[in-house]
Amino acid sequence: MLKTESNKSLKSLNTFGVDVRAKHFVCIRKPDDLVKISTSKVWTSKRMFLGGGSNVLFLKDFDGLLIQNALKGISIIDEDEKHVYLKIMSGENWHQLVMHCVAKGWGGIENLALIPGTAGAAPIQNIGAYGVELKDIFHSLEALDLETFKLHTIEQKECDFGYRKSRFKTEWKERFFIQSICLKLSKKPVLKMHYGAIKDALAPLQTPGITDLCRAVIKIRKSKLPDPAYLGNAGSFFKNPIIDSNTLKQLLEIYPEIPHYPAENNKFKLAAAWLIDQIGLKGVRSGDTGTFEKQALVIVNYGHAKGSQIWQFANRIMDSVESVFGIRLQPEVSIIA
Ligand code: FAD
Ligand code: EPU
Repeated sequence: MLKTESNKSLKSLNTFGVDVRAKHFVCIRKPDDLVKISTSKVWTSKRMFLGGGSNVLFLKDFDGLLIQNALKGISIIDEDEKHVYLKIMSGENWHQLVMHCVAKGWGGIENLALIPGTAGAAPIQNIGAYGVELKDIFHSLEALDLETFKLHTIEQKECDFGYRKSRFKTEWKERFFIQSICLKLSKKPVLKMHYGAIKDALAPLQTPGITDLCRAVIKIRKSKLPDPAYLGNAGSFFKNPIIDSNTLKQLLEIYPEIPHYPAENNKFKLAAAWLIDQIGLKGVRSGDTGTFEKQALVIVNYGHAKGSQIWQFANRIMDSVESVFGIRLQPEVSIIA
C-alpha cells in the first residue's frame, strides 16, 4: 500500500534545511507507484518531484503534492571490450553510484564524486565539476510523460545539454518524470586531470588511476564546500555568467585580473564567486543566512533561516553584483515559490 502523508515536514528533505511543509507527500519506490498515485485523490496539477533536495530553495510551504523519488536499482544493460552501459534507477544516490563505478574500474564519472542528490536529477541541470559534465558519460534516459503516462526513451542529442542546462529545465520543465538514466562508462579510462587543483594533487603519483582522481576530487571538495549535514546549503547558488567577447574586453580594461574561461559558442565564463568576493560579500552574514566564508558562491543557512530570507539575501547579491559589474547573476538553484 502506498502511504500518503499530509502536512509533511520537508526540513530534513532539503539540504538548505528550510523548515517548510508539503500539503501532500508520497514516497515512490517502484515505477508503478507513480501510476497508482496519479489516479488517487491527492494527484493535482501542483506537484513536484524531489530527489535529494540539494538544488532547491522552498520560499514557503508547498501547497500541492510532493513526490519523493526512491526508485532503486543499478544494472548492466550492455557491454563490450571498451565500454559498459549502466541503467540506473533515478532514486539512486549519485555519490554512491560514483563510488560503485570507481570500485568496478569503470571510468568517466570519477570527477563527479561527492555531488549530492539522485541520479535522476543529474540530467536536469547536466551536473558538472572539475572538467566533466554528465553529458560526457550520458547515453540516454527513460522518462514518463506526465500527460500521457507513456514511457519514452530520450537520447543524448534530444536533451540539449549545456552548462547547467538541459531541455528538462526549459521547454520540458515539469513535463516528465525521469525514471532511469543510462550511462556509457569506459573500461579503459583516460583521466581528465586538466583542472589545476587535480593536476597538483596527482602530480606526485607515477601512474594515477580513477581511484586516485576520485580521492583527490573528494579532498578538494571537502576543503571548499560546506557539508549540508552540518551547514545548510545547496552548493553554488548562482550559475557562473556566460558573456560575449566584447563584454569581456570591457571588463578586462577595468579588472585585468578577472578570472575568465572559454565557454560554448565562442563565449566566456566568469567566476561568479570572484565577482561576489570582489564586492566584499564573501563570508557576510545577514541574520541566519549568509555567504560561506571559504566560497562566496555558496549561500548557507546557519540554522533557522526561512527560504524567503535566503532568497532576499540572494537578491541583495544579484543587485550588488549588477550595480558594480553590469552583470545579473542567475540562480542555479530551483526556486520553489
Ligand atoms: P533535487 O534538489 O531534489 O531536485 C532538483 C530539481 O530537479 C527539482 O526541480 C526537482 O523537481 C527536479 N527533479 C529531481 N528529480 C527528478 C526526476 N527524477 N524527474 C524529474 N524531475 C526531477 N551541482 C553540480 O552540477 N555540480 C556540483 O559540483 C555540485 N556541488 C554541490 C555541492 C553541494 C554541497 C550541494 C548541496 C549541491 C551541489 N550541487 C552541484 C547541486 C546538486 O547536488 C545537483 O543539482 C543535484 O543533481 C541535485 O540532485 P537532487 O536529487 O538533490 O535534486
Ligand atoms: N573564487 C573567488 N572567491 C571565492 C571562491 C572562488 O574569487 O570565494 C575564484 C577562484 O579563485 C577561482 C574561481 O573563483 O578563480 C572559481 O572558483 P571554484 O574553482 O571554486 O569554482 P566555482 O566556479 O565557484 C564551479 C561550479 C561547482 C563545481 C566547481 C568545480 C558553478 C556554478 N559551480 O564552482 O559546482 O563543483 O566549479 O568544478 O558552475 C554547484 O553547481 O553547485 C557546484 C558546487
